[in-house]
Amino acid sequence: MANACNVPSRTIFTGDNLDILRGINSECVDLIYLDPPFNSNRTYAAPLDSEARGAEFDDVWTLDDMKEEWLDEIEIRMPALFHLINGAKLAHGESMAGYLTFMSVRLLELHRVLKSTGSIYLHCDDTAAHYLKSIMDALFGWRNYRAGIIWKRTSAHNDSRRFGRVQDYILFYSRRGMINADDIRIPLDPEYVEQFYRYEDARGVYRLSDLTAPRIGTGETGRLWRGHDPNKSGRQWNAPLRGHYAAWIEENFIPGYREIVSPLARLDALDDVELIYHPPNNGMPALKRYLESNPGQVPTALWIDISPVGPHARERTGWKTQKPLALLERIIAASSNPGDLVLDPFCGCATACIAAEKLGRQWIGIDILPQAAEVLRDRARRELQIPLDDGDGSGWEDWTPFILTEPTRRTDLTLLHPLDIKSEKDLLYRSQMGRCIGCEYELPLHVLTIDHIVPRSRGGLDAVGNLQLLCHTCNAIKGNRTMEYLRTELRRREILTD
Ligand SMILES: C[S@@+](CC[C@H](N)C(=O)[O-])C[C@H]1O[C@@H](n2cnc3c(N)ncnc32)[C@H](O)[C@@H]1O
Ligand SMILES: [Zn+2]
Repeated sequence: MANACNVPSRTIFTGDNLDILRGINSECVDLIYLDPPFNSNRTYAAPLDSEARGAEFDDVWTLDDMKEEWLDEIEIRMPALFHLINGAKLAHGESMAGYLTFMSVRLLELHRVLKSTGSIYLHCDDTAAHYLKSIMDALFGWRNYRAGIIWKRTSAHNDSRRFGRVQDYILFYSRRGMINADDIRIPLDPEYVEQFYRYEDARGVYRLSDLTAPRIGTGETGRLWRGHDPNKSGRQWNAPLRGHYAAWIEENFIPGYREIVSPLARLDALDDVELIYHPPNNGMPALKRYLESNPGQVPTALWIDISPVGPHARERTGWKTQKPLALLERIIAASSNPGDLVLDPFCGCATACIAAEKLGRQWIGIDILPQAAEVLRDRARRELQIPLDDGDGSGWEDWTPFILTEPTRRTDLTLLHPLDIKSEKDLLYRSQMGRCIGCEYELPLHVLTIDHIVPRSRGGLDAVGNLQLLCHTCNAIKGNRTMEYLRTELRRREILTD
């Protein structure tokens, strides 16, 4: 399967995800799930007798994590994040600022590699959830925030003198408002079934639902049917015409049901096959809705039905922060389609990779620990029944994960040869319509100079998209700083007035 990505599917990288993400093409990933360290102030180590033995990572942060160049980069690429980090430093302290800096540079790259139609799920706990939410709002757009999923990750909590912290948070952002609801339905809540499905006939258990809708009906929907006048109670007839139940009726009882345009004829048809309940006291007839037809409910944002990986679970690897496959399967099924590319930049024992593989998605996993690749191979053999044979390579023909320790090279950047930059200048001049991008004055070509939007000293490339023309004055004011700085300064000097 081809993707626009420069990394083949089924790749597990072992290395720092920042370096690796910088080598992945822009806008080629459909779904990102990340479960980073939470700033929990703990060190996690896997037991020596487990599959993940040797895997250990620190979740302790200091201001040293807040590398100066990362902060500079954040300031240039997204000033809002820079301010949020500084706010957190004042409100919470340096460790939090260090953690958020670590996260922000990576989230900037994740934002770049995610397709505009893609979705991202950030798994965290309440140590930093609120700061991460602000950062995600700024970066992915607060309008694209779809849910703050709460996952009940453990049932018991020993400390009975506090409110037990049994929940994790999963922040979900996507431009698409919808999830693949039908792919993740779960059984109805038994309490709900008991409360509402109180009737039974030879066909099975059913509940009653209204055959009318609010508003007086002026046409046929307002007429008498079997002696009942819906208008009396300010309503009109409304036998289902669309939706799941109408389809079920058509499939099981009334061929062509959804083509019956007349509302009263629909009622007659339903009555003929005994799908209408007539109360003994001559009350309003109601529609029978059989439990059997119910496709289950779409989970709410409160997930209490997925248990943590138990001590004897088959899927257990020993990785301290291992998440259940069921959790990842729900996320992947909800927000991607078969063949889509899923990326987990903190993949640990490769749970997201295994879940993606099971659901027929492409995947890339990254973890700083080399054990991640070993665990992936063990899990593939055990959970996907893929016979791995390192000796002669048999068993791998159809299923070969790539295990890479170095970042790949991006193939979507048009790097310019120094000689080409001259002609690039003409192109820029035309696209800027002969104006300086800063002060907006129309000027002759020879007084404009090429500026790197992200300066070369901060990793900005001689690449299309990172170059613009500025006049000498604007160039001198901007120096190595951001366009935002230049504009503010031009306004202060009243060169720009808007
Ligand atoms: C909370 S765990 C992820 C667990 C994973 N969801 C699973 O089910 O196994 C976080 C992972 O991030 C990895 N990690 C920490 N810093 C990293 C970095 N800079 N680059 C890549 N991985 C990193 C750790 O090694 C650890 O495995
Ligand atoms: Zn200018």
